[in-house]
Amino acid sequence: MEKQNQRRIFSGAGAELWQPAERSIWTARSSDGGDQALALLKSLLDQPRWLAAQHLYDDIGSELFEKICDLPEYYLTRTESAILKERAEEIVRRAGVECIVELGAGTSQKTLLLLDAQVKQHGGGVFAPIDVSLASLRIARDSVERNFPQLMFHGLHGLYEDGIAAIEKDLPTLFVFLGSTVGNFDSWQFETFFSHVSRSMGSDDYFLLGVDRVKDVDLLKKAYDDSEKITAAFILNVFENVNRILGSNFDQTKMRYEPRYNAEWQRIEMYAVATQTQQIRVPGSKIEFSWHKGERILVEISRKFDPEQLQAQLRCFGLDPVAHYTDKKDWFSLVLFKKAARR
Ligand code: AVJ
Repeated sequence: MEKQNQRRIFSGAGAELWQPAERSIWTARSSDGGDQALALLKSLLDQPRWLAAQHLYDDIGSELFEKICDLPEYYLTRTESAILKERAEEIVRRAGVECIVELGAGTSQKTLLLLDAQVKQHGGGVFAPIDVSLASLRIARDSVERNFPQLMFHGLHGLYEDGIAAIEKDLPTLFVFLGSTVGNFDSWQFETFFSHVSRSMGSDDYFLLGVDRVKDVDLLKKAYDDSEKITAAFILNVFENVNRILGSNFDQTKMRYEPRYNAEWQRIEMYAVATQTQQIRVPGSKIEFSWHKGERILVEISRKFDPEQLQAQLRCFGLDPVAHYTDKKDWFSLVLFKKAARR
């Protein structure tokens, strides 16, 4: 039974890389594996220093992010959910697929709206969320199995790239990338990501992208500087995870959170600033460095988008826009793309 399901959604290469981890969840036999610590070190020793956003989502980080989604200042989740609630049926009808793959799924709460439409219209299908957080995948699995027993659930515990490449090209698939998570990418990562996505997509595949839009600066700033200081806790918590991976000694009591809006680059930049000089040691490597008082480490970026420009840009990646949905205030956009026929 398990084997059969595997053959159904996984491409040849995917079947080799992905191994069963636990019920309905697969794990990638680490394509980056032991390099994680090295990659972290490289970014910490860069000028300026920075961290990759995936490290924010350890168990505590994932919980803090769920709390952010409920904050009054953080309009993103609420706004996107409202659009989805209104449009899920239409999106699923337009795409008409057998499989829904969600990237950076978290606990997949918003996606339940799409799954509901999928079950109503098609009576079933496959749902395969990809995430680096195993805890989140378990929550997604339990709620999907409870709500939609008609769906086949395959959780993919790993990186986007590996998950996307694993999906059988001939299986008509809707890729879903919500919450403006794509805003974490800088322009270089964006380019790499969409080249890979487009190459991995079959000719009947669709891509649904949720993005936060450029808007009034005060609204943006408040969304990343909430009065309960949950965002600060989320950003600084990354150093607990970094210490775990590197065995390093970053001290949260000697740093503070600082968000900035970079108007020229249309993005929020979330920094950790040393409030005292810290001597950072990384046992196992010969590396030691000073994080000087006042020096910043870029922990996360959150790009804001112009949906017209985004649609034009993604055409260049072989993704044709077929529908654009937004809310009454034009704060958030959901754009549905179809893989372009080969020219
Ligand atoms: C999950 C990347 C979409 O950028 O708004 C929220 C992460 N960081 N508050 C965002 C986040 C601080 C969030 N994304």
